[in-house]
Amino acid sequence: MTSQVDVRISAGRVADIPADRCVAVGDGRAVVVRVGERVVAFRNRCLHQDSPLADGRVLTGRLICPMHFWRYHLPDGEHVGGGGRLPSYPVEVVDGEAFVDLPPPAPSRSLRQIMLAHARDWDRGDRRAPGRGTP
Ligand code: FES
Repeated sequence: MTSQVDVRISAGRVADIPADRCVAVGDGRAVVVRVGERVVAFRNRCLHQDSPLADGRVLTGRLICPMHFWRYHLPDGEHVGGGGRLPSYPVEVVDGEAFVDLPPPAPSRSLRQIMLAHARDWDRGDRRAPGRGTP
């Protein structure tokens, strides 16, 4: 879980947060999903090819990426089959409303930096999103 907090955003009423899919919050920086009485929040990027997880479905306790269907255990975000975990963010519920503490945005990288990171990961045999490195 990320510890440095940049901004606290409301994810809405806990009762209104769906349990069967994840929804984007914070200008799309995070997704939230209700797991029983809890609300969990993850970075809105899949570990596979960095696509948004927003609107990913939840089936049998797993969040499913809408792009190529990589699956993540809930509530911890561990990739099914191992190899990584979705970055998660703290959620606090106050009077029935969920608040997510988002970290500062990652610094932007040039296309060259992204492609070099992807090439390095590929050479290591890591086929997940570019520049993620080993978990
Ligand atoms: S980008 Fe999520 S499974 Fe491919």
